[in-house]
Order: sequence, then structure tokens, then C-alpha cells
Amino acid sequence: MKIITVKDPLAGGKAALDIFKAAKERGVKTFGLATGGTPETTYAELVKSDLDFQDCVSINLDEYVGLPADHDQSYAYYMHEHLFKAKPFAASYLPNGMASDLATECARYDQIIADHHVGLQLLGIGRNGHIGFNEPGSPFDGTTHEVALTKSTIVANARFFDREADVPKQAISMGIGSIMQADQILLEAYGEKKADAVAKMVQGPVTETVPASILQRHPDAIVIVDEAAAAKL
Ligand code: GLP
Repeated sequence: MKIITVKDPLAGGKAALDIFKAAKERGVKTFGLATGGTPETTYAELVKSDLDFQDCVSINLDEYVGLPADHDQSYAYYMHEHLFKAKPFAASYLPNGMASDLATECARYDQIIADHHVGLQLLGIGRNGHIGFNEPGSPFDGTTHEVALTKSTIVANARFFDREADVPKQAISMGIGSIMQADQILLEAYGEKKADAVAKMVQGPVTETVPASILQRHPDAIVIVDEAAAAKL
């Protein structure tokens, strides 16, 4: 794991831009993308940059169950607002959280992942060490699946909703096995609330209790942290 420590999320976004540029230069055509507060500065840098993704494909990690794509807290909406409306891709895939049959939707998404090898996968990290919506205990070889969100994730994400009760209780997430297939993984973490999870990910045992700890076994994982998130390293 390569650790890049930056002053703040703004500097982190600039460091991430360099990694996206390098990926484009070596011919990466499929980008795995993430949502949440963390990648916002990265997307802002991508939008300001001269990078063009019109010959590329994006595959997002996850989506809430029950929110239509035009709901302002759906990840489809987030991606449109933060990136796609300024930087369109040839195709952009997200799980469909409105699918009537979630098992069929997970299988459809696995086929999309199988058809497009991810060259660079962007990740955030949950306060409990989750990646995507792979909560603690998720199998390291998992594929796309339906997830019951933990209380801690619901509380953490409540800041984006009017009320905690409005946060969906379920999601569809790419599995850890699929995430680990990417040629390169870039995980960003900012703020003191991520310091424990970052320390466990980098220095703790590799355990399904801390999903992000599996990145210790990835051959090309880069972690960008600000000083607050690096405080316990
Ligand atoms: C969310 C998302 C993750 C994200 C993480 C951290 O629940 N499903 O993909 O990385 O939790 O979110 P944030 O960046 O807002 O702290």
C-alpha cells in the first residue's frame, strides 16, 4: 500500500487528479467510481481538468435500494451532478436500486463488471472500515449483493437526508472480490472521523471485520489521507 499524506481534502483531490491522469495516459478505459463526501474534491478537479472520458466507461460501486435515479440522494443523481453532466462517459453503470427483483439486478451488475475490466477503482472508507457498502463481515470474495446497512452507516449518512428515518435501510453493492479485481485501487479518507478506520486498514490484521484491510493484499493500492485521517498511523 502506498500512502500519500496531504494537508487537506483539496490537496487530496489534486493528488487524485494526477492518478487519474496517469491512468488515462496508460490507456485505462474503465473507471470504478465511488460516492459520498470524500470524492467530491476529486470530482471537482476532474471537472476542471482537460481530461476527456467520452471513450471510457464508468462502473459505480453501489446504490441505495428504493431511491429512483432522480432522487437527490440517489448515487445516480450524485454522479450526474458531481461528474457526468460535465464529463460524460461513453457508458456509465450504477446498480438499479428500483429493480423489482434485486437478485436478478445483482446478477446483471456482475455481468457488467465481467464485461469491463476496471483499470482504476476509486474508493472511500466508512467509519467502520466499509468499502462500497460492504459492511464488516462481508466476505472478501463477494460479488454484487443486497446489503442491510448497519446502524453506524445509517447514522453517518443521515447528514445528507432531512431525517435519519429517511436513509434507506438497504443497498446494492459491488462485492469485495470484484473490487479487488481492479488493476489499481485509489482510496481516499479525510477527517478525524476516519482516523481509526484508516489505522486498522493500513496497520491492523487483514480481517473481514475491517473490509478495507484487504487492500493490504492488493498489488497496487494507493491511499490518499489528510493529516486528520492519518493521525493514528
Ligand atoms: C458510504 C458509501 C461509501 C463511502 C463511505 C464513506 O456509505 N457507500 O462508498 O465510501 O460510505 O462516505 P463519506 O465519503 O461520505 O464519508
